[in-house]
Amino acid sequence: MTWELLESTCAACQKCALGATRTKSVFGTGSRTADLLFVGEAPGEQEDLTGTPFVGRAGQLLDKFLAAVDIPRKDVYIANILKCRPPQNRDPLPEEEAACIDYLREQVRLLKPRIIVCLGRISAMKLIKPNFAITKEHGQWFDKNGYLMTAVYHPAYLLRDPRKKEDMLEDMKRIAAKLAELQGEG
Ligand code: URA
Repeated sequence: MTWELLESTCAACQKCALGATRTKSVFGTGSRTADLLFVGEAPGEQEDLTGTPFVGRAGQLLDKFLAAVDIPRKDVYIANILKCRPPQNRDPLPEEEAACIDYLREQVRLLKPRIIVCLGRISAMKLIKPNFAITKEHGQWFDKNGYLMTAVYHPAYLLRDPRKKEDMLEDMKRIAAKLAELQGEG
């Protein structure tokens, strides 16, 4: 599998009903040699219109946190569990996740990131463990299938509860430090 083939397959995907309602599928963006992969939930309105993940208000807040810990957005890779927008931004349905997850699995195989960061509980429940408790377990490290993983609050949640931004900054600092440590090891 190549990035190009995977992306074009995803762009034409009709494996679930979201294929009929999306404007654009939102494959992923960033560096295809990134050590750091962020995985959100699903595209929102702006993402559906542009085809790029995390460009709406939540994405702009994510950008601020990346800047705060000196990680250029162009150096990371950003994707979602679902590649198409659920109507009214409702939570992904199990059958939509099941239809879509192999795209992300293949992205991970191609990218081979050193760290995978789940953005929010939906992503953490899918990628780390089904009973992931974001309030208690954000910022903790998990080893899953040889990948170092962690989860942080979803930026859309931080827009609703700005008091959690301090925790987010601490988690992002810890992620940046771990990344520097791993990169220093070569
Ligand atoms: N929220 C997500 O989970 N993903 C996006 O791409 C945008 C908003």
